[in-house]
Amino acid sequence: MKVALLGYGTVGSGVVEVINANQDSINKKAGTPIEIKYVLDLREFPGNPINEIIVHDFKQIAEDPEIEIVAEAMGGVEPAYAFAKTSLESGKSYVTSNKELVALHGAELLEIARKNNVNFLFEASVGGGIPIIRPLNQCLTADEICEITGILNGTTNFILTKMKDEGRDFEDVLKEAQALGYAEKNPAADVEGYDACRKIAILASLALGEHVNFEEVPTEGITKITAEDMVYAEKMGYVIKLLATCKKQDDAVFARVSPMLISKSHPLAMVNDVFNAIFVNGNVIGDVMFYGRGAGKLPTASAVVADIVDAAKHKGTNIISFWSRKKIELKDQGDVKVRYFVRVKDNAEVVSKVQENFKQLEVVEALEGEFAFITEVCSESTFAEKMEIIDYANVLSKIRIDK
Ligand code: HSE
Repeated sequence: MKVALLGYGTVGSGVVEVINANQDSINKKAGTPIEIKYVLDLREFPGNPINEIIVHDFKQIAEDPEIEIVAEAMGGVEPAYAFAKTSLESGKSYVTSNKELVALHGAELLEIARKNNVNFLFEASVGGGIPIIRPLNQCLTADEICEITGILNGTTNFILTKMKDEGRDFEDVLKEAQALGYAEKNPAADVEGYDACRKIAILASLALGEHVNFEEVPTEGITKITAEDMVYAEKMGYVIKLLATCKKQDDAVFARVSPMLISKSHPLAMVNDVFNAIFVNGNVIGDVMFYGRGAGKLPTASAVVADIVDAAKHKGTNIISFWSRKKIELKDQGDVKVRYFVRVKDNAEVVSKVQENFKQLEVVEALEGEFAFITEVCSESTFAEKMEIIDYANVLSKIRIDK
């Protein structure tokens, strides 16, 4: 079975490494020898044996009838979208780690794959090496999924862990995550939560069978989290995690990405460094957790290669995924019930406004020169109105609390 690999960056070179390292067992599991015939990349790699199969024009791959599987690890919507469509329409299965592509065009590409009796597979697009797409598509289909909550971005989890454990600063840890190949080319995608947002939209779409538009998922990153917040979290017995969530609430679906304070006894609180974890609640099975390395060369490549094997095994058969193009209307964020931890300037006027607006607040004492408290449960819109009265200029930080 001849494969074309698109992109020889961190993940692409990992795919070659995994196939070379485990060639015999991969061939046995695929039921046929797997061979990478071409690698598409803009660059040349002098001195690297890969250079013999480097091509620069996708046409060469599209027009070669020997190529039955195209594996993409380039990232970005274009030209990946055009390459995916052309591949599937010309009867080649398309395997990808590209979450931008899947979040935006997943439903359509699955439909094209179905029409052409080939497969569009994207296990590596969420959770790196963690099996989560296949379980949602296959093992959990007896359930109605009520909730998916996960740590879906390795870079931010790595940053938050090092800030908490080593008291290091944000920029310094981000540089380390970049050097380790975890971070996106533009790290704003990680630290502003956009990457986790695309991933939760993919999982939610698969779980619900209809399209969750990632652009409609309220998203906040970790750039405002400070060393002072870490001190308070420790004092309260919490840790700060960037959580991506999608829940059914009173017949509506609610989704969000934001930093959250979660109790140290919460199963996701123990997920550290680059690890990701995804908690799923089904109405029959109850709670299930998936855990593993959510970013990095070999874990992500492992999921890409597993999809190549699956595509080879299912030659001539389309594996059905339930993700239609019909869009789900998400619950208005303003109506969602929430509790916040808030730090404001310690000034008599500000504190009295806080006390007037939050009648049942719980004071938290940790640092001098500021006033910190936990609010009662209220809707996001009520909270926002109260914060306007207190005036955001007086607010040092605000972080949602789980439960
Ligand atoms: N930048 C991503 C992360 C890579 O840190 O999780 C894996 O999708």
